Amino acid sequence: MILIQFTGLSGSGKTTLAKNVEHLLVEKGHKVEIVDGDIYRKTLCKDLGFSKDDRCENVRRLFNVGQDFVQSEVIVLMSVINPYEDLRNEIRQYDFVRTVFLDCSIDNLIKRDPKGLYQKALLPDNDSNKIKNFTGISDVYEVPLKADLTLKTDSEPESVSTNKLYYFIIDNITNAV
Ligand code: ADX
Repeated sequence: MILIQFTGLSGSGKTTLAKNVEHLLVEKGHKVEIVDGDIYRKTLCKDLGFSKDDRCENVRRLFNVGQDFVQSEVIVLMSVINPYEDLRNEIRQYDFVRTVFLDCSIDNLIKRDPKGLYQKALLPDNDSNKIKNFTGISDVYEVPLKADLTLKTDSEPESVSTNKLYYFIIDNITNAV
């Protein structure tokens, strides 16, 4: 089995690639579950904010959810920013975990900004709409040193990243217990 722990900034393509790959895998008869931070932050993790402790607790809870799915032979795509190297390394010690880094420049993310969040993060300090502690702008994102797969989502087409991720998962399912 396999659990993909994504890591990448907001807007780098985690949810999009997870959905694309889910579609391809389901077509081939695999069971797939996307464990998405944006969704679980409204339910299981709704008590958590964006401090370091809360982000770590968020990722830990989602990993626990993911582990349960893995035990029922479901391929898990854990779609979260997951900004800290130590926690990622702790999680990747499990045999069934692979780390996938969605590498997208901050300039590009600010340009794309589909949810308008970067614009809000870049507002002046005295603006009440400003999002504080925003990853990549005013909060830390530790670039992974040991990703198993890196996808350059700002320089390659979505279809290319999707295919790379799909074949990476297929190649790694049998190797991982
Ligand atoms: S993580 O850091 O704990 O892994 P997670 O992936 O669950 O983050 O949530 C990130 C999402 O929360 C972003 O895609 C964005 O929609 C929203 N968000 C709201 N405030 C922040 C913030 N301060 N930093 C990052 N993302 C934020």
